[in-house]
Amino acid sequence: MLDIKKIRRDFPILSQKVNGKPLVYFDNAATSQKPKVVIDAISAYYQEINSNIHRGVHTLSQLATDAYEETRNKIQKQYNAKYNHEIIFTRGTTESINLIASSFTSLLKKEDEIIISALEHHSNIVPWQMLCKRTGAKLKVIPINKKGELIITEFDKLLNNKTKIVAVSHISNSLGTINPIKNIIDKAHQFNAVVLIDGAQATPHIQVDFQALDCDFYCASSHKMYGPTGIGFLYGKERWLNKLAPYHGGGEMIKEVTFERTTYADLPHKFEAGTPNIEAGIVFGTAIDYINEIGIENIASYENELLQYATEKLLKIEGLKIYGTATKKACVISFNIGKIHPFDIGSIVDKLGFAVRTGHHCTQPIMQFFNIPGTIRASFSFYNTKEEITSFVEALERAKVMLR
Ligand code: ALA
Repeated sequence: MLDIKKIRRDFPILSQKVNGKPLVYFDNAATSQKPKVVIDAISAYYQEINSNIHRGVHTLSQLATDAYEETRNKIQKQYNAKYNHEIIFTRGTTESINLIASSFTSLLKKEDEIIISALEHHSNIVPWQMLCKRTGAKLKVIPINKKGELIITEFDKLLNNKTKIVAVSHISNSLGTINPIKNIIDKAHQFNAVVLIDGAQATPHIQVDFQALDCDFYCASSHKMYGPTGIGFLYGKERWLNKLAPYHGGGEMIKEVTFERTTYADLPHKFEAGTPNIEAGIVFGTAIDYINEIGIENIASYENELLQYATEKLLKIEGLKIYGTATKKACVISFNIGKIHPFDIGSIVDKLGFAVRTGHHCTQPIMQFFNIPGTIRASFSFYNTKEEITSFVEALERAKVMLR
C-alpha cells in the first residue's frame, strides 16, 4: 500500500495553485513531475562536483565521471542488460531512435522492409521514413483494431525475409495500449529482423527486463521517469552496437584521430560524442532510486486502480467516448465529449486547475484512424488520487454545460 499523502509531499509543485485553483496534474505521459530529491540533486551537482567527465585527472572530474557512470550501472541493473556498455546515454527516446535509424543506413538495401505500428508516436515513424528515403527500403505498418490494439495476425502477414527492422512502442502514449512486445520480438526474430522498442511510456509505470524480452534495442527518457529533461538512454545488444556505425562524430568517441583516418572508441563511448548533459545524467540515477524506493510493482498496481476508477467515472458522463479500450492498458485515457473540440474542454478545465493534454499527442495517424481532430488525454501517475479524478469529472461536466 502506498502512502499517497506522504508521496505527494515529495513533489513541491503539486501543492501549487494554478489559475487560483489547486493544481491537478494529469499530463504525466507528456512529462512527469520531479520529487524534491531530484530537484535537490541538480543543485548539489552544480554546488559540489560540476566539471567535465571522462577527461580530467582532477578530483572533481573524477567525482562527476563516477556519478555519471553510476547512473549507467543503475540503468543496466534496473532493466537487466547484460553489460553496462550496452547502455548509451542520449538526449531521450527520440534521439535514441534517430541514432539507430541513422546507424542502419549502410546496412539496408532497396529490397529491405521496416515494420512499425499504427500506434506509434511520430518519433517512431519519422526517423524510419527518413531511413527509407536514404536507402529505398519500404515502410510497413501493423494496423490496429477499434479498441486500439495491434492486429497481430496482420503483423504475421507483413513479416518475411525482407523484414530487417521492427520498431514498436511498449505502451501507446496516445491510447495507453500495452503491446504484446515479447510476442512481437519472438516473431520478428524468426525472420532475423532486429527489434527496437520505444519504452518511453513504459519505464515510468511497469517492470521491464531486456534480457527476458530479448529485444535488440530499447529506449526511454528520464523526464517521464521523474528525472530531468534532456537525458535518456538507448539499450542495444553488444553485438549490434559493435556492428553499427557511430551516429555523431566528435570528442570522446574516438581512439585515434589523424587527418587520414579515425578509429572509434569502444562501447559505450563510440555513440557518445561531445560533452553530454552531465547533471541530468547523474540525477537520472537519483530518479531511478526514487522509483525503486516506492517500488515499480506498487506503482503499477496503484496506477491500475486509478485507471479503473477513472474509466468507470468518466464513462458516466453522457456523450463521453474513450479512444483506446484495449484489454491491456496503462494509465492513459484519451476521450472526447460529443462533438465538442478537445481544445475547448482542455482550456476550460485548465482554468479550473486541471493540466491535461489536448490534440493529436504526436500520433496523427491514430487520429486519422478514428477520424477525429484530437482527444483530451488524462494520464495518471502514482501521486494522483481518486479525489482528483472525481473533481476532474465534475470539472468536465461544468465544461460540457458551458460549451453546449
Ligand atoms: N510524447 C509525449 C506525449 O505523449 C510528449 O505527450
